[in-house]
Amino acid sequence: MGYLDSLVERIEELKRRRNAVILAHNYQLPEVQDIADYVGDSLELARKAMEASADVIVMAGVRFMAETAAILNPDKAVLHPSPEAGCPLASFLSVDVIKRYREKYPGRPLVVYVNSYAEAKYYADYIVTSASAARLVSRLEEEEVLFAPDRNLASYVAEVAGKRVIPVPVGGHCPVHEYLVNEYYVRRALEEHPGAKLLVHPEAPPAARRLADFVGSTSQMLRAIGELGGDEFLLGTEEGLVHRARRLYPGKRVYPVNPGAVCIDMKKITLQNIAHALENMKPVVRVDESIAGRVREVLERSLELVR
Ligand code: 13P
Ligand code: SF4
Repeated sequence: MGYLDSLVERIEELKRRRNAVILAHNYQLPEVQDIADYVGDSLELARKAMEASADVIVMAGVRFMAETAAILNPDKAVLHPSPEAGCPLASFLSVDVIKRYREKYPGRPLVVYVNSYAEAKYYADYIVTSASAARLVSRLEEEEVLFAPDRNLASYVAEVAGKRVIPVPVGGHCPVHEYLVNEYYVRRALEEHPGAKLLVHPEAPPAARRLADFVGSTSQMLRAIGELGGDEFLLGTEEGLVHRARRLYPGKRVYPVNPGAVCIDMKKITLQNIAHALENMKPVVRVDESIAGRVREVLERSLELVR
């Protein structure tokens, strides 16, 4: 048996022994997606983590995703195979930044994107994902909201909900979408594939988004491939989604807007560190209950609002 097959077999065996489930984000490496029990966007991963009946959850994604799973499952062991897998977008939102904006704009609800760390989520009135942000803000009675930490998603939410959305902080962005899925790469891809339908993630800058046939979360983009019609598609997001799309739609031609749009943090989860985590039952993600309790309540209430 080759190295890869024996690694996969070892993970399968460890999963049975530990009664573990592997949840993977749509941007994960192809071999990690293929071994996962479930692959999805942030909203689906949060819902799956809530429903999980296994004793152990392995989160193949970045740290805030593992934290979210741990917050929703205080009685389970949540393993995050690479603690270095952070998210530069999440790092834009510190408690100091929140306090500054709260002071400057009193009385506005604070809507926090799930791409943030638990200490920041603690201050949220609502927690959203890219799949739920516009829907949730549309349902609020307030006409003006604070939205953290992605300025591009904030501008998309403002457009769809028809409300004033104040980005917190003013320059928060995902470097992968901001610099590698911008107007330049989108126009270049459209010139190479003039007949293709263009799907763009709302973390991409507005000039890229406005060229799209469809804007949505990673899983909403996957569904749109089936619904839009046509047989050639360009995905304006991190390149890992293309693997998933090609698996789901083998008859369609799917290309990344930019094959260089790689989230290096997402790629820090490997088959080797998954096997290592299951073998040693670490690193376990723990969020102090003094923070987790409040975040769980806001997260569950927010998920319910967009059901
Ligand atoms: P989705 O929730 O759309 O999968 O997005 C997560 C993410 O990290 C986007 O960069
Ligand atoms: Fe964070 Fe961007 Fe990577 Fe998503 S793609 S995890 S927002 S850095």
